[in-house]
Amino acid sequence: MAHTLPRTRHIRAAITLSVATITAQPALAQVAPLEPSGRFSVYPSRAAQTPPMGWNPWNAFRTDVDEAKVRASAQALVTTGLAAKGYTYVNIDDGWALKRLPDGRLRIRDSMFPSSKTGSDTGSFLPFTGFLHGLGLKAGLYTDIGRNTCAQRWDADSPNLPEGTVAERQVGSFGHAEQDMRTMFADWKFDYVKIDACGVADYTPADPPVTSGNYQAFAPMIVRGDIPKSDPRAVEALYATLGEAAHRFGGDAATLSICAWGEALSPIWGHVRGNLWRTSPDVEFTWKSMLGNFDSVVDGALYAGPGHWNDPDMLAVGHGDFDVHHLTEARSHVTMWAIAAAPLLLGFDLRKAPLALLDLVGNTEMIAIDQDAAGNQGVPYRDGDAMTVVRTLSGTGQRAVALLNRGAQPVTARVTWAQLGFAPGSRATVRDVWARTDREPATDTITATLPAHGSVLLRVAGTPADPSTTFLDEMPARVNIAADGLTSETALAMGTFPARIANAPDGTPLVASGKAFAHGIGLFANSRIELRAGGDFRRFVAIPLVLGSKRPVRFRVYADRKLVREVSVTPTQAPQPIDANVAGANIVELVAVAASGGTGRPPMIGWGNAALRR
Ligand code: GAL
Repeated sequence: MAHTLPRTRHIRAAITLSVATITAQPALAQVAPLEPSGRFSVYPSRAAQTPPMGWNPWNAFRTDVDEAKVRASAQALVTTGLAAKGYTYVNIDDGWALKRLPDGRLRIRDSMFPSSKTGSDTGSFLPFTGFLHGLGLKAGLYTDIGRNTCAQRWDADSPNLPEGTVAERQVGSFGHAEQDMRTMFADWKFDYVKIDACGVADYTPADPPVTSGNYQAFAPMIVRGDIPKSDPRAVEALYATLGEAAHRFGGDAATLSICAWGEALSPIWGHVRGNLWRTSPDVEFTWKSMLGNFDSVVDGALYAGPGHWNDPDMLAVGHGDFDVHHLTEARSHVTMWAIAAAPLLLGFDLRKAPLALLDLVGNTEMIAIDQDAAGNQGVPYRDGDAMTVVRTLSGTGQRAVALLNRGAQPVTARVTWAQLGFAPGSRATVRDVWARTDREPATDTITATLPAHGSVLLRVAGTPADPSTTFLDEMPARVNIAADGLTSETALAMGTFPARIANAPDGTPLVASGKAFAHGIGLFANSRIELRAGGDFRRFVAIPLVLGSKRPVRFRVYADRKLVREVSVTPTQAPQPIDANVAGANIVELVAVAASGGTGRPPMIGWGNAALRR
């Protein structure tokens, strides 16, 4: 559990669960938050070892979707070659469910999906998933953790909303986790489910659907933008129950996509409950909205890795500011998603896709960066409107670099050898991914002058400064923030990650006794970090820091649950390095415990220049 919640919250969650008539207990964490676990405690899954890629009809058609459009788009994925490049998921979104039958089973809107007419009263998606599987593709479906979906609230004029009585319109999975996951995974053979959350957010007694008399009120677990008024534990528990059921019926290759738009602390616990989790509201087809969604993930590298990804939403390519007339913006949008190891879910009409857009999203060198097996999300550096994001790829000295111009005036952006971790004075080869050309080899720094909203995406191969030392900054996918010292009462504002690379959680640099540390992890005390060392390293080194507090903090290092180093740091003391023997350890854990006393948030701390050594 990333967040330890006070007892009252547990009780509230327990009551909510029993009301929801959930049969299986959700697998809430067993380990006390600061005890070493000896595990890498992320969502146990074989799915989404790289960010999911595919197509979803929502951005193109909203609820105006039908089987012909989806089948034609699936076919287009194959004929355009995009499927062979990795775009394999075809995910049906909101709008497919007609009603819930009295026995709880879901009936498919067969006017929309004619192949579902199989003679039974529910209909079946088997012909449809069989078609997709036959093309070598995978199939995704949509539901909600509440009783009702988002379109029922936000697309109220749609002709494709569920029909019938209040009970029949309850097509969300609240109270039906077991039944719905069995239907979707075991009976209909889907591979992926996106689980939305409007049902627990947008059906208060005052909301139009409820006042219309067609929908039952739901005391909100999510109050948008307001963590204290939301009930993160209850939301997490509903996802946990659905995730367990999805695994039971779909196996551990079933993909679970959490869609709570960054609300209710979902970016903090998402990595424990699903394969991907939205971090922000729906992307609109404007530069500003896209940047906002990118910013909702860009400081979150410590939360992502194989099997668990930050999700800034589906691609807006093909629409508005990212259509075929705005290739600069479209390219920058995709550059940002690729450098952030974001899912690449296309959302434009593939039946009439302009070649320029197919070429853009089909750039295999861009895809190789997004899909790099190490799964490290890029780490940002800011300089006004210029932004540099560095992503460590698999293979010695391999990096991807995005140089971005967020603004409307030309800027010069640069990446330095220090940011790349390269030996000073060494030469690196530079590949321009969008131009598909090699640039001149570079030394010490690479610069680019970028037009308004412009970007370059580079693959750089160089010589690491110290081949035996890997900063944790360079392997965020092997870091798991297992406890971050906060509760839902002391949580940071939505959109802010409590654990960050090379910065304190408030964005200030890691500084102690006037000295700044270029690398490391900043977070709060009363925290525990799990490192997937995998037996590859001999030593863990760091400089433990207490930032801006007078409370002493104890720093502990564990190697496979064995305490190998413990130091106490008082804020006035000069920084003292830790050098711990972790030889052969599979899991290294870093625990920081503040002396008792003080209210509110624990002190901010840092594991300055934290690195593993071979
Ligand atoms: C939103 C979700 C969108 C789409 C829509 C369907 O909540 O973020 O991606 O699924 O609901 O109504």
